[in-house]
Amino acid sequence: FEVLLLNGPNLNMLGKREPQIYGSTTLAQIVEQLTQRAEALNIKLSHLQSNAEYELIDKIHQSFNKIDFIIINPAAFTHTSVALRDALLSVDIPFIEIHLSNVHKREKFRHHSYFSDIAQAVICGLGSQGYFYALDAAHQTLNNASK
Ligand code: DQA
Repeated sequence: FEVLLLNGPNLNMLGKREPQIYGSTTLAQIVEQLTQRAEALNIKLSHLQSNAEYELIDKIHQSFNKIDFIIINPAAFTHTSVALRDALLSVDIPFIEIHLSNVHKREKFRHHSYFSDIAQAVICGLGSQGYFYALDAAHQTLNNASK
């Protein structure tokens, strides 16, 4: 199976950025460990982090009929991007929405997501561990579907 990991704006700053909220693990560390976990599960993991909305949208379009599952932390685009939502709907690939922080404990503008109602599941508040839970869930979903 092929899983695409997408990370939105400012997540390249993980480790430096508001560590009391987002933790001290860098994105490179998360991606490296997640890639290892994926290999153990026989999953090919690809990754894109971008601060540009169109790059994330283009990557989703290119995934059409190629990628089996998407794990996405849309970051601030969670609360703003109809375009990214429409891109996910256009390719019809199942996805899990993930956030390091518990967005519901934070400012009101973070409580609404343009993704949650079309996501298979939402994981938030578990820090970088959330990415690993999402990968395990993707693995289970894909195996169940191929039975
Ligand atoms: C985030 C939460 C968003 O509200 C915020 O804009 C981010 C990161 C998270 O992972 O907790 O950039 O998606």
